[in-house]
Amino acid sequence: MQNREQWGSRLGFILAASGSAVGLGNIWKFPHMAGENGGGAFTFVYLICILVVGLPIVIAEFVIGRKTQLSPVGAFETIAPKSNWKWVGMLGVASAFVILSFYGVVGGWTLKYTLISLTGGFNELAGNPELSGKLFTNFISGSLAPILWQVIFMAITIVVIIQGVKGGIEKWTKVMMPAILIILIMLMIRGLTLPNGMQAIDFLFKPKFDDLTASSIVLALGHSFFTLSLGMGTMITYGSYLRNDQNLLSSALWIIFLDTVIALMAGVAIFATVFAMGANPGEGAGLIFVVLPTIFPEIAGGAIWGTLFFFLLFMAALTSAISILEVITAYFIDEKGWSRQKATIIFGSVITGVGALCSLSMGTYNITALAGMSFFDVLDYLSSKYMLPIGGMLTGVFVLVRWGIPNFISEMVVGMKNPKVNATFVRILFLVSATVVGFILINEIIATITGTPIIG
Ligand code: PFF
Repeated sequence: MQNREQWGSRLGFILAASGSAVGLGNIWKFPHMAGENGGGAFTFVYLICILVVGLPIVIAEFVIGRKTQLSPVGAFETIAPKSNWKWVGMLGVASAFVILSFYGVVGGWTLKYTLISLTGGFNELAGNPELSGKLFTNFISGSLAPILWQVIFMAITIVVIIQGVKGGIEKWTKVMMPAILIILIMLMIRGLTLPNGMQAIDFLFKPKFDDLTASSIVLALGHSFFTLSLGMGTMITYGSYLRNDQNLLSSALWIIFLDTVIALMAGVAIFATVFAMGANPGEGAGLIFVVLPTIFPEIAGGAIWGTLFFFLLFMAALTSAISILEVITAYFIDEKGWSRQKATIIFGSVITGVGALCSLSMGTYNITALAGMSFFDVLDYLSSKYMLPIGGMLTGVFVLVRWGIPNFISEMVVGMKNPKVNATFVRILFLVSATVVGFILINEIIATITGTPIIG
């Protein structure tokens, strides 16, 4: 593995991995989930899930990648040769395929909305959610326009990946992550200084435990995998471009910290604006594409704020999309000996094609796949409710029963100055993490089959 590509710096790696984590999940999904599930109560559970369930798996993925210097399939095969564990890696490649198909569609929407805002297109929507809803539905259910934007988004993703680890992923995320942070801070200050803006802080951070339902706990758990890009080998792949000189525990903590802080900041920025204008925080998935466009024109300089917001969303989606495509590209480079360019162009194009079907499934060419859900919803549902949690849980089980906690720890402490690691504590963390995820999965399966979950 002499000539494997490597990150140029520790900062570059941390920004790339947090770029993967920070995405539509933080800025689109988290605020609307919190809005619909009682705000503070949801935030509280989400934070616990990130620490208890997320942290051990992030570290496990980094350690597996760095040790083997391979993407997931080869990584599992190296530590557990001639076993079935490589299928966990294959599941990861499949998940990457599924997620990027619909992620690229939403990525296209963010570009389109940046342009609408820039050209003053939100002005006529001021205070008119109905019109805004119509504009959004018409756009996403159209046949050509959303696919065109999706193709542009995917083309940018492909260009970044072709440029490689250091010259592509690292170079782009080093510019985009600071830009995301700066824009978000500006939007947050803007929101909080609007009349009633401070209500957002109360709403998001004051836990009202009456609002805490079992289903919001299940939701928070599932979301912690999605938001940290866990369970499909993204972090294994990114970890495989690391040398042995890095403290992986502190890197993982940085990534979790950035991911969480950015989700919370996005929540504050969005809810401050929503409260200032008297809109409804529990609006659901339309909060961003339907409600915000009606609010921006009512704020001074609204076109600029709106454009900045959707451009921020675009950058966040892009830094995640590149990490998803890299999982697939790395698989074909490592396992099939393909060139980076060939793997990226072929599979980037295939995914764009499947994504186009997803996009069409929301419109007149309603490709209904399962149980009345559109093809788009099926892919979203399958990946976030099953594929990522299964992949994440099996990664935890792999460390516990196949690799073994002592072997894992001896690899984890490489690069740490004064490692003080208590093996029992690590074992308990992994046990809790894997059990909790196993429970959500069983709960979900029972709910699907019988229609009534154990909790939720
Ligand atoms: N973490 C990304 C988000 O929050 O939008 C989504 C994601 C990226 C999921 C990469 C999984 C993944 F491997």
